[in-house]
Amino acid sequence: MSSHDQAHSMAGPLINLLNASLQLEYANIVRLPRFRSSIEDQEFARKLEWLLTDSLRHAEIVMRHIRRLGGEPEWTLAPFPENDSTIDFLKRQQNLEQEMKGIYENAMPISDTDELHKDLNGLIASEQNHWALCDDLIRHPA
Ligand SMILES: [Fe+2]
Repeated sequence: MSSHDQAHSMAGPLINLLNASLQLEYANIVRLPRFRSSIEDQEFARKLEWLLTDSLRHAEIVMRHIRRLGGEPEWTLAPFPENDSTIDFLKRQQNLEQEMKGIYENAMPISDTDELHKDLNGLIASEQNHWALCDDLIRHPA
């Protein structure tokens, strides 16, 4: 198999993984502003806005690679909970960060370009930081 064929055969699984993470990034874009509007503490709100801005940035990176690989970004929204307490919301958020990090880690060994490899490294580090932020907020809620 030529390296071109090999890259081509990996495109399907890679597109599937990137689309799986896109669903989660996109779910964040809906659930974070909704929750943020119920938070009065300004510092807490700013931290949630950081997660939101990063989710938008991540979704753009992921979509760019899906299109480059010849795929179509998928937009199905994951359901989001209506009436979580702050702690429940943060725990769920932390699980989402963990899940997204896991998807990016799984995409790493089949990444087809240096650019994707570099982007995945950045995404993994970013989700790790988000996980740590959630952990901190769970320990010291506003
Ligand atoms: Fe994140």
